[in-house]
Amino acid sequence: MLEGKHILLGVSSSVACYKAVELARLFQKAGAEVRVIMTKNAANLVQPLQFEAVTGNPVYCDIFNCRAPWEVEHVAMAKWGDVFVVAPATSNILAKMAAGIADDAPTTLYPAFPHTTFVAPAMHTEMWLHPATQDNIAILQKRGVRFVGPETGELASGDVGIGRMAEPEHILEAVMDFFAQELSLKGRCVLVTAGPTQEAIDPVRFISNRSSGKMGYAIAEEAVRRGAEVTLVSGPTLLPDPPGVTTIRVRTALEMHREALARAEKPDIFIFAAAVSDYRPEKPSEKKMKKTPEKMTLRLAPNPDIARDIGRKARPDQVLVGFSAETHNIEQSARKKMKEKHFDLIVANDVSSEGIGMGAELNAVVLLSPGGKPEKMGPAPKKFLASRILDKVAEVMNKKKM
Ligand code: C5P
Repeated sequence: MLEGKHILLGVSSSVACYKAVELARLFQKAGAEVRVIMTKNAANLVQPLQFEAVTGNPVYCDIFNCRAPWEVEHVAMAKWGDVFVVAPATSNILAKMAAGIADDAPTTLYPAFPHTTFVAPAMHTEMWLHPATQDNIAILQKRGVRFVGPETGELASGDVGIGRMAEPEHILEAVMDFFAQELSLKGRCVLVTAGPTQEAIDPVRFISNRSSGKMGYAIAEEAVRRGAEVTLVSGPTLLPDPPGVTTIRVRTALEMHREALARAEKPDIFIFAAAVSDYRPEKPSEKKMKKTPEKMTLRLAPNPDIARDIGRKARPDQVLVGFSAETHNIEQSARKKMKEKHFDLIVANDVSSEGIGMGAELNAVVLLSPGGKPEKMGPAPKKFLASRILDKVAEVMNKKKM
């Protein structure tokens, strides 16, 4: 269940924080190791000793009173944790997390923590529904923070409404689902193409595009995290090889085609995230071309289509996922491409807006499957989208393998 998992439990000062003791106990019982990080106000409501008794670990509450002064405590804790669960989360802590304010133990840990964060809000209905809270929720959701609850029921004030912290069992369930999904690609083989290609005009010049490779690399990393064996065939990017991924660096579309097709037998899943140049200069000059006052014509030859060629030979149990970068008629063009290239899924990308899509940190996509309803995702960090895309891919794969 949660055997061997490291859970960081953030506790802020809602009256529901006594329930966090029960949550710590449930995590512990499910096999996880738990470390509690509290705000000082929460420590006035529930004695840290209670959490220490349940978890067997010291509680981290005072950022200026480290037990291990040779370590930067919040960074050491951030490295240790597999998941950060803030329960209960007050409107105050949600606001601080959204704004990046780090003035107590849990809010200092949050921006240092590189993996998934869950929050279980607990507050009065008016506070939950207030536009300030709702805006902060939207910011956190966009960033990939997962919300459990709040639930509707009796509140601390005696009123009945939305705002009750989700029951500890429900929070446990959400975290267990998350880890179960983590192994959704265990033992599967995944091939990802990513990045642009460069097509030589002469020894120093080339034709290329704005692709940074970030989306494909994020997918490769996420697939490894979910237990897959991943090969990444990448065009030139500035990104380091993702850990745990077999990365094959290529420059041209022809090289990418050769390397990907040579490995097309084994994968259960192909993800064609590369922005392959459609054309290459027909006869690149061997010497650097001289500048002349004349107009110049460059003859281009079409490049092979990697996705199409793999799709032609693919077995029925292999899952093919394509990308489609468009500036207009996004869904229509993506559906056409999906049909032509026999994709099981296509991730349609609107590359017309600044700061989103090609080369950017954020992406906004529509996920399409044959006959399926379009699913809009983002704008969100590419890492977050990678996870959502792989949820869908795992679903399609499981249907195919049944
Ligand atoms: O036709 P279009 O280039 O828009 O198709 C996009 C999809 O096909 C992407 O998944 C892309 O990685 C893949 N593709 C490819 N080889 C090409 C061109 C596109 O694999 N030469």
